[in-house]
Amino acid sequence: MVNPVTGRLLTFPDPQQISLSIRASALIFADPESKKLLSLIERVAPSDATAYIKGETGTGKELVARHIHSLSSRRNGPFAAINCGAFSETLVESELFGYERGAFTGAVSTKIGWFESANGGTLFLDEIGDLPLSTQVKLLRVLQEREIVRIGSRKPIPIDVRLIAATNVNLEEAIRAGRFREDLYYRINVVPIQLAPLRERTGDILPLVRHFISIYKDRLHSTEPELPPDTLRMLLEYPWPGNIRELENTIHRALLVCDGNVLRPSNLNLPIIQTVFQDCLNSTHQTETDMCVLEKIFAQLFEQGHDELHDLVIRKLILQAYEHSRMNQVQAAKLLGISRNVLRTQLKHFGIIE
Ligand SMILES: Nc1ncnc2c1ncn2[C@@H]1O[C@H](COP(=O)(O)OP(=O)(O)O)[C@@H](O)[C@H]1O
Ligand SMILES: [Mg+2]
Repeated sequence: MVNPVTGRLLTFPDPQQISLSIRASALIFADPESKKLLSLIERVAPSDATAYIKGETGTGKELVARHIHSLSSRRNGPFAAINCGAFSETLVESELFGYERGAFTGAVSTKIGWFESANGGTLFLDEIGDLPLSTQVKLLRVLQEREIVRIGSRKPIPIDVRLIAATNVNLEEAIRAGRFREDLYYRINVVPIQLAPLRERTGDILPLVRHFISIYKDRLHSTEPELPPDTLRMLLEYPWPGNIRELENTIHRALLVCDGNVLRPSNLNLPIIQTVFQDCLNSTHQTETDMCVLEKIFAQLFEQGHDELHDLVIRKLILQAYEHSRMNQVQAAKLLGISRNVLRTQLKHFGIIE
Protein backbone atom coordinates (compact mmCIF):
# COMPACT_ATOMS: atom_id res chain seq x y z
CA MET A 1 0.00 0.00 0.00
CA VAL A 2 1.33 3.46 -0.87
CA ASN A 3 0.74 6.55 1.22
CA PRO A 4 -1.21 8.84 -1.17
CA VAL A 5 0.51 12.00 0.01
CA THR A 6 4.12 11.05 0.71
CA GLY A 7 4.25 8.31 -1.90
CA ARG A 8 6.05 6.15 0.65
CA LEU A 9 5.37 2.49 0.70
CA LEU A 10 3.43 1.48 3.79
CA THR A 11 4.56 -1.98 4.69
CA PHE A 12 2.93 -4.38 7.03
CA PRO A 13 5.72 -6.65 8.17
CA ASP A 14 5.10 -10.34 8.17
CA PRO A 15 5.02 -11.29 11.88
CA GLN A 16 7.02 -14.40 11.18
CA GLN A 17 9.71 -12.35 9.53
CA ILE A 18 9.84 -10.05 12.55
CA SER A 19 10.48 -12.83 15.03
CA LEU A 20 13.12 -14.26 12.71
CA SER A 21 14.91 -10.92 12.38
CA ILE A 22 14.79 -10.34 16.12
CA ARG A 23 16.37 -13.71 16.76
CA ALA A 24 18.98 -13.06 14.08
CA SER A 25 19.90 -9.58 15.29
CA ALA A 26 20.64 -9.97 18.97
CA LEU A 27 19.79 -7.18 21.31
CA ILE A 28 22.84 -5.80 23.07
CA PHE A 29 22.25 -4.84 26.68
CA ALA A 30 25.67 -5.20 28.28
CA ASP A 31 26.04 -2.18 30.57
CA PRO A 32 24.77 -2.97 34.12
CA GLU A 33 22.08 -0.27 33.78
CA SER A 34 21.00 -1.67 30.43
CA LYS A 35 20.79 -5.18 31.86
CA LYS A 36 18.45 -3.93 34.58
CA LEU A 37 16.32 -2.25 31.95
CA LEU A 38 16.19 -5.39 29.82
CA SER A 39 14.91 -7.42 32.75
CA LEU A 40 12.17 -4.79 33.29
CA ILE A 41 11.29 -4.94 29.59
CA GLU A 42 11.10 -8.72 29.64
CA ARG A 43 8.97 -8.67 32.80
CA VAL A 44 6.35 -6.33 31.38
CA ALA A 45 6.37 -7.62 27.80
CA PRO A 46 3.96 -10.58 28.28
CA SER A 47 1.28 -8.38 29.90
CA ASP A 48 -1.03 -6.33 27.74
CA ALA A 49 -0.09 -3.07 29.45
CA THR A 50 0.56 0.04 27.40
CA ALA A 51 4.27 0.78 27.35
CA TYR A 52 5.76 4.24 27.05
CA ILE A 53 9.35 4.36 25.79
CA LYS A 54 11.36 7.52 26.29
CA GLY A 55 14.76 8.19 24.82
CA GLU A 56 16.79 10.28 22.42
CA THR A 57 16.71 9.42 18.76
CA GLY A 58 18.70 6.29 17.91
CA THR A 59 18.61 4.81 21.42
CA GLY A 60 16.63 1.75 20.30
CA LYS A 61 13.01 2.67 21.02
CA GLU A 62 11.61 0.87 17.99
CA LEU A 63 13.83 -2.14 18.57
CA VAL A 64 12.59 -2.41 22.16
CA ALA A 65 8.98 -2.06 21.00
CA ARG A 66 9.48 -4.94 18.55
CA HIS A 67 11.13 -7.00 21.28
CA ILE A 68 8.17 -6.41 23.60
CA HIS A 69 5.81 -7.51 20.83
CA SER A 70 7.84 -10.63 20.11
CA LEU A 71 7.69 -11.65 23.78
CA SER A 72 3.95 -11.07 24.12
CA SER A 73 1.03 -13.36 23.43
CA ARG A 74 0.39 -11.16 20.37
CA ARG A 75 3.66 -12.22 18.74
CA ASN A 76 1.84 -13.94 15.90
CA GLY A 77 -0.30 -10.89 15.26
CA PRO A 78 0.81 -7.81 13.32
CA PHE A 79 3.30 -5.20 14.54
CA ALA A 80 2.62 -1.81 12.98
CA ALA A 81 4.86 1.21 13.49
CA ILE A 82 3.82 4.76 12.69
CA ASN A 83 5.76 7.96 13.18
CA CYS A 84 3.23 10.54 14.30
CA GLY A 85 5.60 13.36 13.40
CA ALA A 86 5.75 12.31 9.75
CA PHE A 87 2.21 13.38 8.88
CA SER A 88 0.50 16.72 8.60
CA GLU A 89 -2.19 17.57 11.11
CA THR A 90 -4.95 16.76 8.63
CA LEU A 91 -3.45 13.50 7.46
CA VAL A 92 -2.57 11.93 10.79
CA GLU A 93 -6.16 11.05 11.71
CA SER A 94 -6.87 9.30 8.45
CA GLU A 95 -3.61 7.38 8.91
CA LEU A 96 -4.60 6.28 12.40
CA PHE A 97 -8.31 5.67 12.04
CA GLY A 98 -8.83 5.26 8.28
CA TYR A 99 -11.67 6.76 6.24
CA GLU A 100 -14.75 5.82 4.26
CA ARG A 101 -15.07 6.43 0.57
CA GLY A 102 -16.34 9.97 -0.03
CA ALA A 103 -15.40 11.17 3.49
CA PHE A 104 -13.54 14.09 1.92
CA THR A 105 -12.37 15.25 -1.50
CA GLY A 106 -9.91 12.69 -2.75
CA ALA A 107 -11.22 9.83 -0.61
CA VAL A 108 -12.00 7.72 -3.68
CA SER A 109 -12.02 4.44 -1.80
CA THR A 110 -12.27 3.24 1.76
CA LYS A 111 -8.98 2.98 3.55
CA ILE A 112 -8.26 1.27 6.83
CA GLY A 113 -6.05 3.02 9.36
CA TRP A 114 -3.17 1.75 11.44
CA PHE A 115 -5.36 0.79 14.39
CA GLU A 116 -7.27 -1.63 12.19
CA SER A 117 -4.06 -2.87 10.53
CA ALA A 118 -2.62 -3.65 13.94
CA ASN A 119 -5.76 -5.42 15.17
CA GLY A 120 -4.82 -8.48 17.20
CA GLY A 121 -1.26 -7.21 17.49
CA THR A 122 0.78 -4.22 18.62
CA LEU A 123 0.69 -0.61 17.43
CA PHE A 124 3.87 1.40 17.93
CA LEU A 125 3.19 5.15 17.93
CA ASP A 126 6.54 6.87 17.60
CA GLU A 127 6.94 10.58 18.43
CA ILE A 128 3.53 10.63 20.09
CA GLY A 129 4.36 14.13 21.38
CA ASP A 130 3.93 15.38 17.81
CA LEU A 131 0.23 14.49 17.71
CA PRO A 132 -2.00 17.55 17.42
CA LEU A 133 -4.21 18.19 20.47
CA SER A 134 -7.40 17.39 18.54
CA THR A 135 -6.03 13.95 17.63
CA GLN A 136 -4.90 13.37 21.21
CA VAL A 137 -8.54 13.68 22.31
CA LYS A 138 -9.58 11.07 19.75
CA LEU A 139 -6.74 8.75 20.68
CA LEU A 140 -7.70 8.90 24.34
CA ARG A 141 -11.28 7.96 23.40
CA VAL A 142 -10.06 5.01 21.34
CA LEU A 143 -7.95 3.76 24.24
CA GLN A 144 -10.87 4.08 26.65
CA GLU A 145 -13.61 2.67 24.44
CA ARG A 146 -11.41 0.14 22.61
CA GLU A 147 -13.11 1.01 19.35
CA ILE A 148 -12.42 3.33 16.43
CA VAL A 149 -14.65 5.18 14.01
CA ARG A 150 -13.34 5.72 10.50
CA ILE A 151 -13.53 9.30 9.21
CA GLY A 152 -16.82 9.76 7.37
CA SER A 153 -18.48 6.89 9.23
CA ARG A 154 -20.51 6.56 12.42
CA LYS A 155 -20.03 2.86 12.90
CA PRO A 156 -17.67 1.99 15.74
CA ILE A 157 -15.27 -0.86 15.00
CA PRO A 158 -13.97 -2.87 17.99
CA ILE A 159 -10.19 -2.81 18.28
CA ASP A 160 -7.91 -5.22 20.11
CA VAL A 161 -4.53 -3.52 20.00
CA ARG A 162 -1.69 -3.17 22.47
CA LEU A 163 -0.26 0.31 22.30
CA ILE A 164 3.41 1.15 22.68
CA ALA A 165 4.12 4.87 22.56
CA ALA A 166 7.50 6.56 22.24
CA THR A 167 8.91 10.07 22.33
CA ASN A 168 12.25 11.79 22.23
CA VAL A 169 10.80 14.90 23.85
CA ASN A 170 9.91 15.50 27.47
CA LEU A 171 6.13 14.99 27.63
CA GLU A 172 5.92 16.49 31.13
CA GLU A 173 7.27 19.72 29.68
CA ALA A 174 4.88 19.46 26.75
CA ILE A 175 2.00 19.15 29.25
CA ARG A 176 3.14 22.27 31.09
CA ALA A 177 3.35 24.11 27.78
CA GLY A 178 -0.19 23.01 26.91
CA ARG A 179 0.94 20.89 23.95
CA PHE A 180 0.09 17.50 25.40
CA ARG A 181 -3.01 16.35 27.27
CA GLU A 182 -2.40 15.26 30.81
CA ASP A 183 -5.20 12.65 30.74
CA LEU A 184 -3.67 10.98 27.68
CA TYR A 185 -0.26 11.07 29.35
CA TYR A 186 -1.58 9.13 32.36
CA ARG A 187 -3.29 6.70 30.03
CA ILE A 188 -0.07 5.84 28.16
CA ASN A 189 2.39 6.18 31.02
CA VAL A 190 1.45 2.81 32.53
CA VAL A 191 4.86 1.17 32.09
CA PRO A 192 7.51 3.86 31.50
CA ILE A 193 10.75 2.64 29.92
CA GLN A 194 13.61 5.12 29.82
CA LEU A 195 16.38 4.39 27.31
CA ALA A 196 19.52 6.26 28.34
CA PRO A 197 21.67 7.98 25.71
CA LEU A 198 24.62 5.86 24.63
CA ARG A 199 27.12 8.27 26.26
CA GLU A 200 25.54 7.36 29.63
CA ARG A 201 25.84 3.58 29.14
CA THR A 202 29.37 3.29 27.87
CA GLY A 203 29.43 -0.39 28.84
CA ASP A 204 27.26 -1.00 25.76
CA ILE A 205 29.61 0.71 23.29
CA LEU A 206 32.19 -1.99 22.62
CA PRO A 207 29.71 -4.90 22.63
CA LEU A 208 27.64 -2.91 20.11
CA VAL A 209 30.77 -2.24 18.04
CA ARG A 210 31.50 -5.99 17.93
CA HIS A 211 27.85 -6.71 17.15
CA PHE A 212 27.75 -4.31 14.19
CA ILE A 213 31.16 -5.47 12.94
CA SER A 214 29.91 -9.05 12.88
CA ILE A 215 26.74 -8.03 11.02
CA TYR A 216 28.40 -5.76 8.44
CA LYS A 217 31.51 -7.82 7.81
CA ASP A 218 29.25 -10.65 6.66
CA ARG A 219 27.22 -8.32 4.48
CA LEU A 220 30.36 -6.77 3.01
CA HIS A 221 32.16 -10.11 2.77
CA SER A 222 35.12 -8.66 4.66
CA THR A 223 37.12 -10.10 7.51
CA GLU A 224 36.97 -9.02 11.12
CA PRO A 225 39.37 -6.10 11.57
CA GLU A 226 41.63 -5.58 14.55
CA LEU A 227 40.75 -2.62 16.79
CA PRO A 228 43.90 -0.89 18.07
CA PRO A 229 43.75 0.94 21.45
CA ASP A 230 43.49 4.44 19.95
CA THR A 231 40.45 3.34 17.94
CA LEU A 232 38.85 1.88 21.06
CA ARG A 233 39.59 5.07 22.98
CA MET A 234 37.98 7.22 20.31
CA LEU A 235 34.89 4.98 20.21
CA LEU A 236 34.55 5.19 23.99
CA GLU A 237 35.19 8.92 24.29
CA TYR A 238 33.03 10.18 21.44
CA PRO A 239 29.67 11.45 22.83
CA TRP A 240 27.48 9.72 20.16
CA PRO A 241 24.76 12.37 19.86
CA GLY A 242 22.99 10.15 17.31
CA ASN A 243 23.31 7.20 19.73
CA ILE A 244 23.23 3.59 18.50
CA ARG A 245 22.08 4.55 15.02
CA GLU A 246 25.13 6.80 14.63
CA LEU A 247 27.41 4.07 16.00
CA GLU A 248 25.95 1.57 13.55
CA ASN A 249 26.43 3.93 10.59
CA THR A 250 29.97 4.72 11.74
CA ILE A 251 30.94 1.04 11.88
CA HIS A 252 29.33 0.30 8.54
CA ARG A 253 31.20 3.19 6.90
CA ALA A 254 34.47 2.33 8.66
CA LEU A 255 34.39 -1.25 7.38
CA LEU A 256 33.91 0.06 3.86
CA VAL A 257 36.93 2.34 4.01
CA CYS A 258 39.38 0.51 6.27
CA ASP A 259 42.16 -1.13 4.35
CA GLY A 260 43.79 -4.28 5.51
CA ASN A 261 42.77 -5.85 8.77
CA VAL A 262 43.10 -2.83 11.04
CA LEU A 263 40.35 -0.36 11.81
CA ARG A 264 42.13 2.94 12.42
CA PRO A 265 40.71 6.03 14.20
CA SER A 266 40.66 7.93 10.89
CA ASN A 267 38.44 5.20 9.38
CA LEU A 268 35.75 6.12 11.88
CA ASN A 269 35.55 9.58 10.33
CA LEU A 270 34.10 10.99 13.55
CA PRO A 271 33.67 14.74 13.69
CA ILE A 272 37.11 15.49 15.10
CA ILE A 273 36.23 19.02 14.09
CA GLN A 274 35.16 19.28 17.75
CA THR A 275 38.77 18.99 18.86
CA VAL A 276 40.03 21.01 15.92
CA PHE A 277 37.70 23.86 16.88
CA GLN A 278 38.81 23.60 20.47
CA ASP A 279 42.50 23.78 19.56
CA CYS A 280 41.87 26.83 17.39
CA LEU A 281 39.85 28.53 20.12
CA ASN A 282 42.58 27.93 22.70
CA SER A 283 45.12 29.56 20.44
CA THR A 284 42.91 32.57 19.68
CA HIS A 285 42.79 35.68 21.86
CA GLN A 286 39.65 35.65 23.98
CA THR A 287 39.19 39.43 23.73
CA GLU A 288 38.34 39.37 20.05
CA THR A 289 34.77 39.60 18.82
CA ASP A 290 32.97 36.37 17.97
CA MET A 291 33.14 36.96 14.23
CA CYS A 292 36.89 37.56 14.37
CA VAL A 293 37.29 34.32 16.28
CA LEU A 294 35.27 32.46 13.68
CA GLU A 295 37.29 33.98 10.83
CA LYS A 296 40.53 32.96 12.51
CA ILE A 297 39.27 29.46 13.10
CA PHE A 298 38.31 29.10 9.45
CA ALA A 299 41.63 30.55 8.29
CA GLN A 300 43.44 28.06 10.48
CA LEU A 301 41.31 25.18 9.21
CA PHE A 302 42.08 26.15 5.59
CA GLU A 303 45.77 26.20 6.38
CA GLN A 304 45.67 22.82 8.09
CA GLY A 305 43.72 21.44 5.13
CA HIS A 306 40.88 19.15 6.13
CA ASP A 307 39.24 16.72 3.77
CA GLU A 308 35.55 17.37 3.45
CA LEU A 309 35.80 20.58 5.49
CA HIS A 310 32.40 21.77 4.29
CA ASP A 311 30.64 18.63 5.55
CA LEU A 312 32.56 18.66 8.82
CA VAL A 313 31.54 22.23 9.61
CA ILE A 314 27.91 21.83 8.55
CA ARG A 315 27.64 18.55 10.45
CA LYS A 316 29.02 20.20 13.55
CA LEU A 317 26.57 23.11 13.22
CA ILE A 318 23.58 20.83 12.67
CA LEU A 319 24.55 18.49 15.51
CA GLN A 320 25.16 21.29 17.95
CA ALA A 321 21.78 22.88 17.24
CA TYR A 322 20.12 19.47 17.50
CA GLU A 323 21.80 18.69 20.82
CA HIS A 324 21.21 22.20 22.14
CA SER A 325 17.49 21.82 21.53
CA ARG A 326 17.57 18.36 23.11
CA MET A 327 16.84 16.55 19.85
CA ASN A 328 13.75 18.67 19.22
CA GLN A 329 13.69 19.09 15.45
CA VAL A 330 11.29 22.03 15.43
CA GLN A 331 13.43 23.98 17.88
CA ALA A 332 16.71 23.04 16.19
CA ALA A 333 15.37 24.17 12.82
CA LYS A 334 14.36 27.47 14.43
CA LEU A 335 17.84 27.93 15.92
CA LEU A 336 19.37 27.42 12.50
CA GLY A 337 16.80 29.47 10.65
CA ILE A 338 15.90 26.61 8.32
CA SER A 339 12.71 24.62 7.82
CA ARG A 340 12.16 21.37 9.67
CA ASN A 341 12.18 19.54 6.35
CA VAL A 342 15.62 20.91 5.45
CA LEU A 343 16.86 19.98 8.93
CA ARG A 344 15.51 16.44 8.59
CA THR A 345 17.23 16.06 5.22
CA GLN A 346 20.52 17.18 6.77
CA LEU A 347 20.15 14.92 9.81
CA LYS A 348 19.53 12.00 7.48
CA HIS A 349 22.42 13.01 5.22
CA PHE A 350 24.80 12.93 8.16
CA GLY A 351 23.38 9.63 9.43
CA ILE A 352 22.13 11.16 12.67
CA ILE A 353 18.57 9.99 12.12
CA GLU A 354 17.14 7.31 9.88
N1 LIG B 1 20.25 -2.70 22.21
C1 LIG B 1 20.50 -2.77 20.90
N2 LIG B 1 21.21 -3.80 20.39
C2 LIG B 1 21.49 -3.88 19.08
N3 LIG B 1 21.11 -2.96 18.17
C3 LIG B 1 20.40 -1.90 18.60
C4 LIG B 1 20.05 -1.75 19.99
N4 LIG B 1 19.33 -0.61 20.13
C5 LIG B 1 19.23 -0.06 18.89
N5 LIG B 1 19.86 -0.83 17.96
C6 LIG B 1 19.96 -0.53 16.52
O1 LIG B 1 20.16 0.88 16.40
C7 LIG B 1 19.37 1.43 15.35
C8 LIG B 1 18.44 2.50 15.90
O2 LIG B 1 17.46 1.90 16.72
P1 LIG B 1 15.92 2.38 16.74
O3 LIG B 1 15.14 1.36 17.50
O4 LIG B 1 15.46 2.69 15.36
O5 LIG B 1 16.07 3.74 17.58
P2 LIG B 1 14.99 4.88 17.89
O6 LIG B 1 13.63 4.31 17.54
O7 LIG B 1 15.14 5.16 19.35
O8 LIG B 1 15.38 6.06 17.05
C9 LIG B 1 18.63 0.26 14.72
O9 LIG B 1 19.34 -0.19 13.60
C10 LIG B 1 18.63 -0.79 15.81
O10 LIG B 1 18.59 -2.09 15.27
MG1 LIG C 1 12.69 5.48 15.79
